[in-house]
Amino acid sequence: MSKVLVAFYSRANENYVNGQIKNLKVGNTEIAANEIANLTNADMFKIEQVNPYSDNYNECISQAQDDQRKNARPELKKYPERIDEYDVIYLGYPNYWSTMPMAVFTFLEHFDFGNKIIKPFCTHEGSGMGSSINDIKKLCPNAKVEKGLAIHGGSVERSQKDIENWVKSK
Ligand SMILES: Cc1cc2nc3c(=O)[nH]c(=O)nc-3n(C[C@H](O)[C@H](O)[C@H](O)COP(=O)(O)O)c2cc1C
Repeated sequence: MSKVLVAFYSRANENYVNGQIKNLKVGNTEIAANEIANLTNADMFKIEQVNPYSDNYNECISQAQDDQRKNARPELKKYPERIDEYDVIYLGYPNYWSTMPMAVFTFLEHFDFGNKIIKPFCTHEGSGMGSSINDIKKLCPNAKVEKGLAIHGGSVERSQKDIENWVKSK
């Protein structure tokens, strides 16, 4: 059996959901990541910045936008000890301006994902996968990057069936 990792980035606390600021105890992508890990019996790894973005929504927007404009690579708290033991990596992230948070770029540049299968999933408020699949392909040129799953963030709790269908689809 192939060994599976669910690596994801997710930010709890204030977020804009269905047109309103809400305080999320667990981030949307983390909810989806937990479901995927349950379905696939995977190990989990949360991608976390040494200096996390603010809990305050507007401050987070300006910090994340600044990092994106600078094409920054925020330093991560830690990395999985080994990546070679995994054959399949589910990669989860929120859509930030059509791509991934810059910390996910840091994560992807850290390893050689050659010959690994990457299955991307994102949560979003309307932009879907954006250009994230192409960005992952550029960062991991030797990986096999499969079709992604875009989940509306505000509906993540009602998306179990979509997640299950996607996981079982290949
Ligand atoms: C900094 C920031 C930028 C965002 N940019 C977009 C965007 O461009 N398009 C979109 O559909 N949603 C955008 N969103 C909404 C998030 O993608 C959405 O709320 C997601 O479910 C959050 O996932 P999380 O709770 O796991 O962090 C943005 C949210 C934040 C905080």
